[in-house]
Amino acid sequence: MAVIAKNCPKIEIEVVDINADRISAWNDKDLDNLPVFEPGLSEILKDVRNKNLIFSSNVENSIKNSDMVFISVNTPIKKKGIGAGQTSDLRWVESCARQICKSARGHTIVVEKSTLPVKTAQTIKDILDSSKVNNSNENRTFSVLSNPEFLAEGTAVSDLVNPDRVLIGGDDLEAMNALKEIYINWVPENKIIFTNLWSSELSKLSANALLAQRISSINSLSAICEVTGAEIDDVANAVGMDSRIGSKFLKAGPGFGGSCFKKDILNLVYLSRFYGLNEVADFWQETILINSWQQTRIYKEIVAKLFGNLADKKIAILGFAFKENTNDTRESPAINICRDLLNEGAFLNIHDCKVSEETINRDLCIENGFKRNMWTYNEDVYSVFEGAHAVILMTEWSIYKRLKWERILSVVKKPFWVFDTRLIVNPNEIKSLGINLWQLGNGKNH
Ligand code: UGA
Repeated sequence: MAVIAKNCPKIEIEVVDINADRISAWNDKDLDNLPVFEPGLSEILKDVRNKNLIFSSNVENSIKNSDMVFISVNTPIKKKGIGAGQTSDLRWVESCARQICKSARGHTIVVEKSTLPVKTAQTIKDILDSSKVNNSNENRTFSVLSNPEFLAEGTAVSDLVNPDRVLIGGDDLEAMNALKEIYINWVPENKIIFTNLWSSELSKLSANALLAQRISSINSLSAICEVTGAEIDDVANAVGMDSRIGSKFLKAGPGFGGSCFKKDILNLVYLSRFYGLNEVADFWQETILINSWQQTRIYKEIVAKLFGNLADKKIAILGFAFKENTNDTRESPAINICRDLLNEGAFLNIHDCKVSEETINRDLCIENGFKRNMWTYNEDVYSVFEGAHAVILMTEWSIYKRLKWERILSVVKKPFWVFDTRLIVNPNEIKSLGINLWQLGNGKNH
């Protein structure tokens, strides 16, 4: 919404949330305190906030006065009941639709921005249509569009400013053109594409599934590299130069995290099984299985290298976010690997450039039941190494690429191990200092 506000000064945008605390965080005078860290976002907000972009908790009023309403709520995987662990929990989408149905006036275009299971637009339509029955005196009408978001965290602003495409799905050409009129202010017309609602919803799930599948593919090859003497970055480079394959999304690592890939594939698997397409479901399911296997095998490798015993050993963890340039830890591989190490009795010294102690506490203690005295939170990257037996590089933050290993060597326990799951350290430098190195996908580990 910030990017729309910036590019369309004549459009008035209100971002509303029933959570007043969240809204006041977005209104914080100090732009360093925004609830989400995203490079470039605070600079845009500085220009547009309280001009044509307002953050408010007056949901009803805002909907009443709007021509277009974007639904951008969370759609996590269902925890209980039918489809638990497999399909999205749509309670917030449904309650948004009900709120819009109650508060809207005149004709309102309702845009699905959240990533949703295919056919959710029908649910929204059904709820909105009920307004005709309930309020027969008021002439309220709705058009429902799907306009999925393809931005990635950490590069959200540039992805929005320069998108590969903008997808608008719908069955009401007038409404679709009204939404197009917004994007045309900064997106070239040939990048704005129209489809029907179901193609649009399915395209979003498909894009994420294909991206995640590429990561599982390269990660499965990383394991083959380790046993054969090949090197995964070289293999990725060689295959990526084939223009049919392309070089992006071929970086091996500890597996994909983030709020979307796993959830979207699970939705695809659920949809396939619902329609009896079991082979299709199994095919996509394997992408998730390889992803968690990758984390398990990294953990087993660490235990094996540290003599099969982690009890009372100190392990430094560099990075807790699911990728660099974000403070988001949802589905972060670091959570699973830290959980397994803690279960082995290790003590963890954790550092991240943007993730707060509070978030790590939520992930490890509140959600996984570990005690607060089993790990430390370190503001200074070098302090994690004090008395450590090993370090695990979990996130590819740039400062981890420039660590002074000689300085580190003087404070760690020997023999000291570096486990590089992101392939960011220089193996020659590490080895020349006599430090043991295990690098993901590196066939020279042995
Ligand atoms: C992903 C998609 O890339 C976006 O297009 C989509 O809009 C978004 O999900 C969404 O549906 O919200 P995001 O999860 O923010 O974006 O971040 P990615 O850059 O895709 O990274 C996801 C995970 O894959 C990270 O853990 C990252 O470290 C990992 N990854 C990515 C790799 O291991 N290797 C790669 O080559 C690329």
